[in-house]
Amino acid sequence: MAFVENIKIHNFKSHIKFQSELLTNHIVISGNNGIGKTNLLETLSFFSNSKGIRSNKLENFFYKDNPDKDIFVECSLKQENFSSNIAYKIYKKNNIITKDFFLDGKKISNLEINKLVNFIWLSPHMDKIMYDGSVIKRKFLDKIISNLDFNFKKNIRDFKKLADERLVLMQNQNDLKWIAILEEKMAKILFQILSERRNKISIINNISKKKLNKFREFKIIISNDQELDLENENSFIEKVKKIFFEKRNLDATIKRNSYGPSIDEIFFYDENKQLNTDLCSTGEQKSLLLSIILSCGWIYKDENINFILLFDEISSHIDQKNIEKFFAEVAKFETQAWYTGTDKNLFQAIENKAFFIDLA
Ligand SMILES: Nc1ncnc2c1ncn2[C@@H]1O[C@H](COP(=O)(O)OP(=O)(O)OP(=O)(O)O)[C@@H](O)[C@H]1O
Ligand SMILES: [Mg+2]
Repeated sequence: MAFVENIKIHNFKSHIKFQSELLTNHIVISGNNGIGKTNLLETLSFFSNSKGIRSNKLENFFYKDNPDKDIFVECSLKQENFSSNIAYKIYKKNNIITKDFFLDGKKISNLEINKLVNFIWLSPHMDKIMYDGSVIKRKFLDKIISNLDFNFKKNIRDFKKLADERLVLMQNQNDLKWIAILEEKMAKILFQILSERRNKISIINNISKKKLNKFREFKIIISNDQELDLENENSFIEKVKKIFFEKRNLDATIKRNSYGPSIDEIFFYDENKQLNTDLCSTGEQKSLLLSIILSCGWIYKDENINFILLFDEISSHIDQKNIEKFFAEVAKFETQAWYTGTDKNLFQAIENKAFFIDLA
């Protein structure tokens, strides 16, 4: 359970000064187009991701009419039986933009904030995940898995470091022994990355089937050309070491590592329609994305990781007919959920328990 009790915002895009006490688990932000609803959710998403909901560059977040003023966002966060003050400041120093996080006034790392609470969001900006090919799907899943499993995140980072080191050594064409040692380390880490992806995807798929059967059912499919070898760690490592060896010339020429975590192809499949989601209708794609986000919520809950949900423009992902069952599903997480919408009527089903912020 996690709960923002109070939020204060300074100079974040259109919000020069904003403050609100949040009194319930359901927060509804309403108001006309362009009033600042998404910007408000974006301030929270920054606690979980360096680029936030819209993946914009940091320089775009300063209030445009006074871009030299520091951005400061502060929340009082309640979890189970304790409250803490989390904050971040984004500022320019010698033309470099920096973002610092604070816990109870003390500077902490991004990772420490992540360990404390996660914000999971769904926004119309994410719809392209459903139709825009395998790479964007893999990146989306990797972010989810990284937040759930810090070891996965470390493995991705370590693989990249080793691959970069190998590229430098190959440019100089010396120390073949050390290159081989790096390749062995890379193969071992790659095995862990690919295995963990499959493990988490199988959990997400199971949730869709067992816990979310009132919603559109999906299946995430993952594969690569070494699929069979993933059953046996040693044979996988030997085979991949050979591949790295064979690719040395190519990688040195293109100055890029051509074999690694990106070999996995990811597809989303609509179990109701028996169709790849790339081929589904726009509405079907949006409902499937909603199901995937709800599944993620269940993993966080099952693994006892605190999270808060942010649903931007929720009417674009669920129609009026299904909205009650959606609110009922979110309530099962027993954590805070924020919703935005231009039309307050959409939130009638939670009228008595929601806290409304009308930005108009
Ligand atoms: N750096 C900035 N400084 C000031 N205002 C900005 C900045 N960046 C964006 N804006 C403005 O913030 C306003 C609010 O944007 P936001 O996306 O939050 O609106 P919204 O209420 O979600 O609208 P919609 O209902 O259309 O989604 C927009 O008018 C946008 O032009
Ligand atoms: Mg918006």
